[in-house]
Amino acid sequence: MPLHDNSLTMWDRYYASDSGSWFFAKMIHWGREVYFGQLFARRVQRFGGDASSYLELGVGTAQTLTRLQRMTNASCTGIEKTPRAYELGKALAPNCTLVLGDALALPFPDASFDVIYSLGLFEHFEPQEQLKLLSEQARVARKRILIEVPTRSPHMLSIMWFNRVIRKRKGVWADDELFSRSHFRSKFPGLSFQYYFDWASGAMTCWFVLKPEDVKAFISGRS
Ligand SMILES: C[S@@+](CC[C@H](N)C(=O)[O-])C[C@H]1O[C@@H](n2cnc3c(N)ncnc32)[C@H](O)[C@@H]1O
Repeated sequence: MPLHDNSLTMWDRYYASDSGSWFFAKMIHWGREVYFGQLFARRVQRFGGDASSYLELGVGTAQTLTRLQRMTNASCTGIEKTPRAYELGKALAPNCTLVLGDALALPFPDASFDVIYSLGLFEHFEPQEQLKLLSEQARVARKRILIEVPTRSPHMLSIMWFNRVIRKRKGVWADDELFSRSHFRSKFPGLSFQYYFDWASGAMTCWFVLKPEDVKAFISGRS
């Protein structure tokens, strides 16, 4: 039994709410538009360091990627598996390259991008998929891997519990895995990373910053 609903059907419903149905999801889309897109683009620029190319995994409607491109003038690419989000992204971010595809099998050669990042993606995968995702990022990144995930904080635990138990929902904002520094360390023992708690996101998110060579060493040490 999977721990998370990361299905195309679930994501398609989430993006369909852009045109009206689910109030909560609509609020989130709006928040990304007016605040989080800008905040996260600044974070990616800062945590990523010197970079001339970025790849966002699970880019959604590209709200952050398009801002990052304008901010840095770098070459910005996003990969997304849900066709509805991909189409919305293409309209919103003509300054970026968007690809319809699977982050678990990146259609890019080794070391293609300086920085690879994901926002609100990692927490939707099963443990084995997370290892695959880490290994794909380490293969394709040159300098940094950034992972933004929801925090294991009281308000996030309450939101997930409410949506899962009371509203009987599955998927995003219901069965997301919540993270802390110690949770990440216990999942991936021995993997080097830097951790940032993001107060400006309303204490909803935190960031893990990794080097591709550290991830490669970790993955090869497991096999
Ligand atoms: C919470 S949304 C985040 C979207 C975007 N990063 C943002 O910040 O607005 C997660 C996205 O990941 C996409 N996704 C999930 N699994 C994926 C996979 N294996 N490959 C590519 N995209 C995936 C979903 O379709 C969804 O658009």
